[in-house]
Amino acid sequence: MSTPKWIDVTTENLYSLDHFVIPSHYEQEIESILIPHGIIMDRVEKLAKLIAADIPDVEEPSLVVCCVLKGGHQFFADLINQIKKLQTASGKSIKLSLEFLKVKSYHNEQSTGEVSFSLTKNELMYYKGKNILIVEDIIDTGRTMQKILEKLSEYEPASVKVTSLLIKKTPLSNGYIPDYVGFAIPDAFVVGYALDYNEHFRDLDHIAVISEHGKEAYAL
Ligand code: IMP
Repeated sequence: MSTPKWIDVTTENLYSLDHFVIPSHYEQEIESILIPHGIIMDRVEKLAKLIAADIPDVEEPSLVVCCVLKGGHQFFADLINQIKKLQTASGKSIKLSLEFLKVKSYHNEQSTGEVSFSLTKNELMYYKGKNILIVEDIIDTGRTMQKILEKLSEYEPASVKVTSLLIKKTPLSNGYIPDYVGFAIPDAFVVGYALDYNEHFRDLDHIAVISEHGKEAYAL
């Protein structure tokens, strides 16, 4: 039997808040911990290895790593720290350029279906002929990533791969699956490790399920 592409997280392996350190300002706002920080870090290390193994072992191996802000920033930072330690099969280090793409598509827990980009046409021209890795926090419906990929393809990159720390098991998915995925999670709204609910919870290290109280407290 082949190993699945991701770790399947189910509601059966939820962790009690009492077993971890939670900032006191979030004690009432989260229900349970879905993925503890240590497990995230171990998985990121493995994703970095998979990504580095696929980088062509040419004269000067390089990759443009593009962070989808804001939610992707913590995964991006931890991932590049791992990739920096790695080498290609012939022992060459990998040159990384870092890029940032800001998109916003959510209001409370609902995808608005609209994606606004922060990059100008001139900035997007930089992607022409480059090998790009897009780093995203979560794929939910898949609409955001579909729009990002459509937009980037207009600027003729040499290749585009996508890594997402999480993919949500939702009936609303458009079927898009990234090249490298950390965890598949239940269809619930999750926060922490830079994922937010209306800009709150980005400073929580674990990935957690928000409580009803949290939703009400921080609703727009
Ligand atoms: P999609 O377009 O529905 O795939 O949504 C992707 C974007 O929505 C992500 O980049 C996140 O910013 C946001 N998002 C989707 N689900 C969640 C969630 O459970 N928690 C926090 N943000 C989410």
